[in-house]
Amino acid sequence: MNGRICMVTGASSGIGKAAALGLARMGATVVMVCRDESRGDAARAEIREKTGSQTVDLLIADLSSQEAIRRLAEEYRGRYDRLHVLVNNAGVYHTKRHVTVDGLEAMFAVNYLARFLLTNLLLDVLKKRAPARIINVAGAYHAKGRIDFDDLQGERDFDGQRANHQSKLADVLFTCELARRLEGTRVTVNCLHPGMVATHLVDKDKDFPKLLKLLYRLSKPLMKSPEKGAETILYLASSPEVEGVTGQYFVNKRVAQSSPESHNVQLARRLWEVSEKLIEM
Ligand SMILES: NC(=O)c1ccc[n+]([C@@H]2O[C@H](COP(=O)([O-])OP(=O)(O)OC[C@H]3O[C@@H](n4cnc5c(N)ncnc54)[C@H](OP(=O)(O)O)[C@@H]3O)[C@@H](O)[C@H]2O)c1
Repeated sequence: MNGRICMVTGASSGIGKAAALGLARMGATVVMVCRDESRGDAARAEIREKTGSQTVDLLIADLSSQEAIRRLAEEYRGRYDRLHVLVNNAGVYHTKRHVTVDGLEAMFAVNYLARFLLTNLLLDVLKKRAPARIINVAGAYHAKGRIDFDDLQGERDFDGQRANHQSKLADVLFTCELARRLEGTRVTVNCLHPGMVATHLVDKDKDFPKLLKLLYRLSKPLMKSPEKGAETILYLASSPEVEGVTGQYFVNKRVAQSSPESHNVQLARRLWEVSEKLIEM
């Protein structure tokens, strides 16, 4: 991966940090995107120390804000003129409804729409020195998801799990639709389920039921480590086996079957159009 530039969002902890570490180990220039400067600095220092790499960069952006995403893309463009790998990983889980500065439900905004906006803003730098790869960290729960166009932001009736599943289905639909739109550009886009990974995703949710949180913590030893959880990302970022492969859903470094709903072309197109309006491109 020497000479390749890779951006990883949500690189301050969990799967994103492990992916950034793995890419730095492979010799790539890594651009970490983190929302909190001190957590980002600490993660970058750890990665630099573990790898000896001098090419680990850090950009600060709260991806729940569209203005911050636009600033991030500008800042990136100010520092680099190309991008070989974009890993859309940052994500949140909320039991209760949270609203972003843009008035959107937070899981829809961070887990899906931020990726839609950031990717579209960076498409020109991705295309410039193609081949390039976009990797969306989705999840197996996309299969339980439904896109509720009548209440996309959960204003009428909110359920944390349902909103999370919807955001993950949106990631898979986005992957498939973007792959269709990128045909012939040599920019590929794939998504993945990292497995059940022992991270702090649920711990960060203050409203997560205490008993479930305890059960979750107790079952952590049975889960994958973040390093194991990042393996499919590293495979999709670097392996010659997936050169030219696009629009696929991966589990454990293999193409897997995503839900029937995720293959609905009309649905993917409608979501794209609604998303365009929500970001006012
Ligand atoms: N863990 C699993 O079992 C599992 C399963 C399926 C899918 N996933 C997906 O994997 C991805 C990574 O999750 P994880 O398990 O590694 O959780 P995590 O440790 O909580 O990592 C999430 C990352 O996203 C960042 N983030 C959250 N909100 C952000 C925002 N508004 N702006 C910028 N960055 C933000 C977090 O930053 P902070 O450090 O500042 O919080 C953190 O770096 C998520 O998309 C998640 O849905 C995880």
